[in-house]
Amino acid sequence: MARIIGGLGTSHIPTIAMALDRGLRNTPEWQPFFDGYLPGQQWVRENKPDVAVVVFNDHGNSMFLDRMPTFAVGTAQEYRPVDEGWGPRSIPAFKGDAEFGWHLVDTLVNNSFDPTIIQEIEVDHGLQVPMELFWGRPPAGPEAAWPVRVVPIFVNVIQYPIPLPARCFAFGKVLRQAIESYPGDERFVILGTGGLSHQLQGARTGFVNPAADAAFLRDIAADPEKLAGWSREQYVETFGSEGAELIMWLVMRGALNECVAVIHQHYVVPTSMTGAGMIVLENR
Ligand code: DHB
Ligand code: FE
Repeated sequence: MARIIGGLGTSHIPTIAMALDRGLRNTPEWQPFFDGYLPGQQWVRENKPDVAVVVFNDHGNSMFLDRMPTFAVGTAQEYRPVDEGWGPRSIPAFKGDAEFGWHLVDTLVNNSFDPTIIQEIEVDHGLQVPMELFWGRPPAGPEAAWPVRVVPIFVNVIQYPIPLPARCFAFGKVLRQAIESYPGDERFVILGTGGLSHQLQGARTGFVNPAADAAFLRDIAADPEKLAGWSREQYVETFGSEGAELIMWLVMRGALNECVAVIHQHYVVPTSMTGAGMIVLENR
């Protein structure tokens, strides 16, 4: 039986990729942010997941407001990184897991979730950045490859109406059922991405809420039911219009055991215009 070994939560700010591409990792501005991920990278190296299920949102790079699925699952063999306007990045394509993708879709539909099925798409910073933060950039060359297969789950946090936080949590529980009913001995890790507090538009542009971010990092481990019970309006008010991306962490948390160990967490504010946070949770 396949199993879930843990969950990783992280911000997915596009400037993180730009900082890496421009060699700014060890500058005084960026080093405290990147050093916070070293224990997360160590956890990944030690625990060697075979498959990463990455819960994220596209930001108008591969999907647009004309067609916006509420939940979508990738069943492709491969996901190329999309060029977001700064030119192609020197990271390899992400190898998919089409077989598990289809099993997940099947399990979801059997449990009254009806996701869009995506057989071909390019992935933006929402997936690229978390993968590089936890796995590091694969060494360049013709053989360059990520050491893990990727199954993307897309959540609409862009276009009104976004899904209920409770629905994201329930989605995670079905994700767990899909993994635990999957024949084979793969080790799965779930990534919840986005946040933490930020607002990139309107009167509150630049809004961050470090106190709420600290409480979120505490509660996502210890009391996720509370966060799942919040309204969407509470997310927007507390974390900002784009900080409401945090509902995607609930998919990750819903897939884990009730009891998890916090292996590591880290928070830096501001990173770009965002409260940037990460957490490493291990199933207990
Ligand atoms: C920014 C974009 C994001 O998608 C995000 O989650 C945080 C910050 C940005 O453009 O600064
Ligand atoms: Fe985002």
